[in-house]
Amino acid sequence: MQMNDPQRYLITAALPYANGPVHIGHLAGCYLPADIYTRYLRARKRDVLFIGGSDEHGVPITIRALKEGITPQQVVDKFHFLIKESMEQMGISFDIYSRTSNKVHHETASAFFKKMYDDGLFEEKETEQYYDETTKTFLADRYIIGTCPVCANPNAYGDQCEKCGSTLSPEQLINPRSALSDAVPVKKKTKHWYFPLQDYEAWLKEWIIDGHKEWKNNVYGQCKSWLDNGLQSRAMTRDSNWGIKVPLPDAEGKVLYVWFDAPIGYISATKELTAQWADYWCKESTKLVHFIGKDNIVFHCIIFPAMLKAHGGFILPDNVPANEFLNIEGDKVSTSRNWAVWVHEYIKDFPGCEDVLRYVLCANAPETKDNDFTWKDFQDRNNSELVSIFGNFVNRTWVLMHKLCGGKVPKLHENILDEKDRALIEEIQNSKSKIQNLLEEYKFRDALFEVIDLSRKGNKYMQEKEPWIVARKTGDNGKLTAEAQALVDNCLHLCLQLTANLTILINPFLPNTAKQMLGMMKVVDKMLDWSNAGSIKLLSVGYNLREPQLLFRKIEDEEISAQVEKLKKGLIKSTTTMEDPKPPAENTSAVNKPEIQFDDFTKLDLKVGTILTAVKVEKADKLLKLEVDLGFEKRTIVSGIALHFKPEDIVGKQVVVVANLAPRKMKGIESQGMILTAEDKAGKLYFISPDTMIDAGSGIS
Ligand code: 2FM
Ligand code: ZN
Repeated sequence: MQMNDPQRYLITAALPYANGPVHIGHLAGCYLPADIYTRYLRARKRDVLFIGGSDEHGVPITIRALKEGITPQQVVDKFHFLIKESMEQMGISFDIYSRTSNKVHHETASAFFKKMYDDGLFEEKETEQYYDETTKTFLADRYIIGTCPVCANPNAYGDQCEKCGSTLSPEQLINPRSALSDAVPVKKKTKHWYFPLQDYEAWLKEWIIDGHKEWKNNVYGQCKSWLDNGLQSRAMTRDSNWGIKVPLPDAEGKVLYVWFDAPIGYISATKELTAQWADYWCKESTKLVHFIGKDNIVFHCIIFPAMLKAHGGFILPDNVPANEFLNIEGDKVSTSRNWAVWVHEYIKDFPGCEDVLRYVLCANAPETKDNDFTWKDFQDRNNSELVSIFGNFVNRTWVLMHKLCGGKVPKLHENILDEKDRALIEEIQNSKSKIQNLLEEYKFRDALFEVIDLSRKGNKYMQEKEPWIVARKTGDNGKLTAEAQALVDNCLHLCLQLTANLTILINPFLPNTAKQMLGMMKVVDKMLDWSNAGSIKLLSVGYNLREPQLLFRKIEDEEISAQVEKLKKGLIKSTTTMEDPKPPAENTSAVNKPEIQFDDFTKLDLKVGTILTAVKVEKADKLLKLEVDLGFEKRTIVSGIALHFKPEDIVGKQVVVVANLAPRKMKGIESQGMILTAEDKAGKLYFISPDTMIDAGSGIS
């Protein structure tokens, strides 16, 4: 059950791994909704803390360090500050943005573990785990890669498949290989401390399944499926030198599991921020809300609450409004392929347009399902919603008020208010509670649409009232009649009061825009108090207002095509922003498969084929369906090359085909063979072709 009337709020947003910059998917996933909610609560004068920071432990960090030949500390130092700066520039208004390498965090997480240990809450177990003999490393989490048992993605991690979102354990991977060396791992014994989650299952069911039916469907559904499948003990320690040392005497080379320490980071950061931290973490009158992305649901709804419960003394989250994923131009964000829009690059490319990105990401937020960001939609939303509706209304109001009312707030002549005026007043008065209810339910998209809709109604009202036409009604003396002036006054008075309301209502979403509007109205921040919304007495009659300023500028086609081009180029040439371990291409530096006999090789029937047709496979951005002429017959081959070749460019090309590969179905199409490609270090694919056109079907040996 949702908590009513809390005394204070504690808002957290997932701590991003400091192994790369943040992209717009991060913003849309949790930082923007958390910030909107916090700004709304602050406007309501609530006691609220907004906690964030970098997650600096775990495999994502060590992998990046290994890949770049630098230390994990150097990795986190570089990215912590870059992320922090991007957050600030995007107006994500954390009360503290901390980091888990801080001393206070190490102490807090260590003490948390020690208390649980002393209370006998862990099971100490020696088990066999995958081990890479070449690098002498135990392969947990992202150190191990293999084929996902659920969706057959060949590059799933040991803790999760990024393609289908399944949570995995290394044992579930098919054909596991080391992410460090590509070696086939062996099993080796190691000791760890396990948290018996099954002991908390009954309690979790009661707390979530019976007690939090109001949680978002995606969150509730995922929790239910975990609980229905039954929980198991989970290791809370790892073999590594990077992380928080296990605070026990016989634990050399062991650190806390990153998902044990990271959420405790919310507590440590609060401690760092205020001596009153315990009021926020230990008093039932606090409402704790975790904003996260969907891949973090199990950790925030099941594991961390069970840890808090086991430890004792802490409150539990009231809600965990997780968003789904934001795809880019129809494809999943991939940091290794550089298929992402990086926030620090956006800020450079579109200076002063931070609110535009906030707007688009909120209007298109993946609140209930994965959504797609496209540059075209970004441009359309800016040009036809921010510029043409919201910005246009404010600008027209200001220009006309200067032209027809001498730059001052005109009087409201109540005696001549008509139906249209009254309807607008009612809209202003009602919008506050509509928007408030939506924000309280974490429906930020709908709340934003209400604000835009209110400005749309303002435009319509102005269009119907036509004050510029009314202002032409002059009397015999050539001056505007008193009657006409009163009509003009009423229209602009109400439009100005509406603008003041829009400033308050848009503030949680677009804080820079709200600030600019305050400037035009010459009023102080105090006006942004939520309690002022709904009033039509916000601007005093006779008050002098500043000249209009354009709130938004049009975004041109060239700017959009440049971004699309940039994205495509990034796809081919991975940049320094690479984050995930890229599975090594099989043709890199060394021979990395076991020796085979000549007979094994002769089993392959390789033929030269000519591509006759090539089309994209629907709903599969990476696949092309090819018709290939093998001389003696034509074959349909589905190939995962769509991100590298345009269909129209490859028709007529000759390629090498594995002709005796057993057929298999891909996206419902039977693929009758495979095309061989070469891959360079940057991940770009090339066909292998004869150096001159030869007969289709020619053999290769
Ligand atoms: O998924 C991630 O990026 C994690 N670093 C989130 C951690 S959230 C919290 F637990 F700290
Ligand atoms: Zn999968």
